[in-house]
Amino acid sequence: MSVEELEGSELGTKNYWDNSYDQEIANYKNHGDVGTIWFDEDSQIRIINWILKQDTLSNDVNIVDMGCGNGMLLIELAREGFSNLLGVDYSEGAIELAKQIAKDQELNIRYQVVDLLNTELCQQELGTFGIVHDKGTYDAVSLCPDNPKEKRDTYLNTVHSIMDENSLFILTSCNWTEDELLISLGDKFLKKCSIPTPTFKFGGKIGSVVTSIVFTKK
Ligand SMILES: C[S@@+](CC[C@H](N)C(=O)[O-])C[C@H]1O[C@@H](n2cnc3c(N)ncnc32)[C@H](O)[C@@H]1O
Repeated sequence: MSVEELEGSELGTKNYWDNSYDQEIANYKNHGDVGTIWFDEDSQIRIINWILKQDTLSNDVNIVDMGCGNGMLLIELAREGFSNLLGVDYSEGAIELAKQIAKDQELNIRYQVVDLLNTELCQQELGTFGIVHDKGTYDAVSLCPDNPKEKRDTYLNTVHSIMDENSLFILTSCNWTEDELLISLGDKFLKKCSIPTPTFKFGGKIGSVVTSIVFTKK
């Protein structure tokens, strides 16, 4: 089974993100505005609360945020006491902004410029993680105007290559439904659970605006 590809958009290009982080850096410098938290703060809080409820995870579990943007999820995790945090993004501007925010808040978070579509380099340089987190990055990769299917597969190979048998992959998407994610990820990942998100009812059908699923590696 396969899913129908999304229509390509500028959100699937590095140029778009570079320009948008240039703007966000200027806003942060001028007004202290940290910029966009994708899919709003509530989705971030739901993910953090879910992580906090897992008795098996200690505060020093190593966590990587894939396509971290301004790094606000890691900022909140650091405030909750998590100490082994890495944010990666292919946009130099995102990493510059994230580093500056963490520095200003005196929080110890590592950041690195990494293209997550370079699976081999990621595997060599990053190692493995207890939690691999993605909010909006699989979505952005899915919107690449060229070869989105190939790029989605490559991205998922990268995720797979930095997990071990105990790792969790927490994926939050607003472009794909849970059923579509289970089809696309089903070869390599096993659903552990969903993190409940608000639902709406339309024409008798129940849907979600965002979908958050926790996977383990097959
Ligand atoms: C929708 S934003 C989400 C940002 C952040 N995770 C959040 O929730 O606020 C998508 C992020 O993915 C990054 N990104 C897209 N493709 C990437 C790639 N191939 N490698 C690394 N980062 C990528 C973009 O630069 C952008 O920061």
